Amino acid sequence: MPDARASAPPALRPLYAVPAPFTTLYEEIADCPRCELARTRTHTVPGSGPAPCDLMFIGEGPGQREDELGLPFVGRSGQFLDELLASIGRARTDVYVTNVVKCRPPGNRDPQPDEIAACSDYLDRQIAGVQPRVVATLGRFSMARWFPGERISQIHGRARTIDGLTIIPMYHPAAALRDGSLRAVMRQDFAQIPDLLNASPGATS
Ligand code: URA
Repeated sequence: MPDARASAPPALRPLYAVPAPFTTLYEEIADCPRCELARTRTHTVPGSGPAPCDLMFIGEGPGQREDELGLPFVGRSGQFLDELLASIGRARTDVYVTNVVKCRPPGNRDPQPDEIAACSDYLDRQIAGVQPRVVATLGRFSMARWFPGERISQIHGRARTIDGLTIIPMYHPAAALRDGSLRAVMRQDFAQIPDLLNASPGATS
């Protein structure tokens, strides 16, 4: 496997830090044989950021750049995510970011239900280790974990408390790159995050 770290731009290198609670987990993910995506990936993309951490983002799955570098959200969607984070005074290095599936679906196709199921215990363990106050889901695949059958156009930006965790569903940054009108919508949804972080647990409906 090519060494992703060596070819990564220096600015991204801090994102390779493995938080202590995830040493074993990231090793397990690196060798994961659980689904077909293992056959076509270049690198696994476990996640980036500290654990524990108050704020966690969950996207869909790695794209081409993420597969090359082994880091989540480092392509065009990631640039927009970084802008959104800056708008609430946060940096990539102080939030935890991961995806529903840890390997790139070929050609950026949607992750399939069996692939999401194969990866779901990794995500459970990440949530348990990160212990976030707020989880922002990015796009419909991570949203479906907590809000199955609901429509993102109707529930984005409306935080709910589920099993003691505050979850705010958001559009995927790639949707805002395709449809520029969603950029402002995403900015507004992000603007709620600081208040959610400051609210007492369970303060949402
Ligand atoms: N899109 C995602 O959902 N995740 C990434 O890591 C990159 C793009």
